[in-house]
Amino acid sequence: MHTCRICTTELKDIIDYGKMPIANGFVKNSEDREFTFNLAAYFCPQCLMVQIGDTVEPEKMFHDHYQFVSSTSAAMAVHFEEQANEIIDSLKEKSDPFVVELGSNDGIMLKHIAKKGIRHLGIEPSRNVAEMSEKIGVHVLKEFFNQKTAKNILDTNGPADVICGSNVTCHIEDLNSVAEGIKILLKDDGVWFFEDPYIYDIVQKSSFDQMYDEHIFYFSGLSVQNLAKKHGMQLVDMRHQDVHGGSMRYYIKKGSKNNISASVHEYISKEKALNLDIQDGYLKFRDNVNNVCFDLKKLLTKLQTEGKSVAAYGATSKSTTLLTYAKIGHDLIDYISDNTPSKIGLLTPGTHIPVKSHDKFIKNPPDYTVLLAWNHKREILKNENEYRKNGGKFITFFPKVTIE
Ligand code: TMP
Repeated sequence: MHTCRICTTELKDIIDYGKMPIANGFVKNSEDREFTFNLAAYFCPQCLMVQIGDTVEPEKMFHDHYQFVSSTSAAMAVHFEEQANEIIDSLKEKSDPFVVELGSNDGIMLKHIAKKGIRHLGIEPSRNVAEMSEKIGVHVLKEFFNQKTAKNILDTNGPADVICGSNVTCHIEDLNSVAEGIKILLKDDGVWFFEDPYIYDIVQKSSFDQMYDEHIFYFSGLSVQNLAKKHGMQLVDMRHQDVHGGSMRYYIKKGSKNNISASVHEYISKEKALNLDIQDGYLKFRDNVNNVCFDLKKLLTKLQTEGKSVAAYGATSKSTTLLTYAKIGHDLIDYISDNTPSKIGLLTPGTHIPVKSHDKFIKNPPDYTVLLAWNHKREILKNENEYRKNGGKFITFFPKVTIE
C-alpha cells in the first residue's frame, strides 16, 4: 500500500509498468549490472495528486555524470530565453531583485538573468551540469534544496523576489519540505513559479513515457491548488507551455487574499471535464497506454518481417519507459540517433539499443525512424526534411501509432 507524499491518504492505482531501470541509466556494456525498481503510478483521492509509488534515491539519479543537458534543443533555448524575459519584465519596479532557480541545469535560463546583472542563484546538485553553467557566468549552489538550504541562502543573500524551477519540482519527493523552504526564502510579495509536464496533456495524449523515476509527481491545477493551500499559499495563475509534450507553469503566492487569474478556473474546469479529479479518468488512460504499446510493437515486428531497416531518433530519458514497457529492444530497433556527445556509444537502460551519432543517420538513413523525442517533433521534422523527401518515414505513437 502507498500513501500520498503530500497528505498521507491511501493512494488508488492508475497503472503498473513493472520492473524498470533508471531512465537516464545508459550503460557501457550489456553485461553491466543495472539497478531496477517498480514503476507504478497512483492517484490521491484526497488532494488529487498523481504520483509514482516507489522512488529511487536522488543520488542514484542526479550525480556527476547526469545525462540530461537542457541545451540540446534549439527550441528549448528559445523557451528559456522567453522565460527569463518574463522574469526580467516582472522585476522592473524592484530595486536589487534576487532570483533563485531550483534545478538550474547547464544555466540555459539563468544565463540571461546573469547577463542583465541581476542577482541570482541556481541550485543544482548534478555537479557536471552545474559546472557547465558556472563557465558561462551563472552562480550555483551544488546542493539539494530544502528548508536548511533555504535558511542558508536567506542568511547570505536576503529574501528572493522570484523562485522558479522548470522540470524539477516534479522530481522532488519531499515536496512539503520544499514548499516550506520556499516560504522561508520568498519575499512576502514574491512569486514562486514552476513548470512541469501537465497531467492533462499526458492523459489526453496517452503520453505515458513522461512517467519515469525522476518524475515523482504529475501536477494539475487541482493538485497544485491543494498543495499551495496546505502551505498557506495560493495558486494565482496557470500558463500552458508548448514544451515537453505539453507543460503547465503554475504561479504561487504567499497568503490567501491574492487575485486569482481566470485561467486557474478555466484549466481546473477542463481538468474536471477529463475526470482528473476521480480515479476513473486515469483508468481509461491505462487502457489507451496498453493499446499504444501493442500497436507500436506490432508495427515494428511487421516492418522487421518485411526486411525494412528501423532506427530511432532521440535517446530520451522517457523512452526508457516506452521501450521497457512495450518490450521493444535491439532486435526491433537497430540504433538510436542522438546529438548529445556523452550519450553516444552507450546502450539504452534495460533494452540495450546502441546510441549512435547523427552522422550515422545521415550517412546511412533507415527506412523507418521511431521518433522517441516526439516532444521535439516540429524541430526534428524541419531538420530532417531531406530524409523524408528521400522516402524516409517517421513513426510517432501518441495518441496513436502513425507513420508520417
Ligand atoms: P528530451 O526530450 O528529454 O529533451 O531529450 C531529447 C533527446 O533527443 C536528447 O538526448 C537530445 C536528442 N535530440 C537529438 O538528438 N536531436 C534533436 O534535434 C533534438 C531536438 C534532440
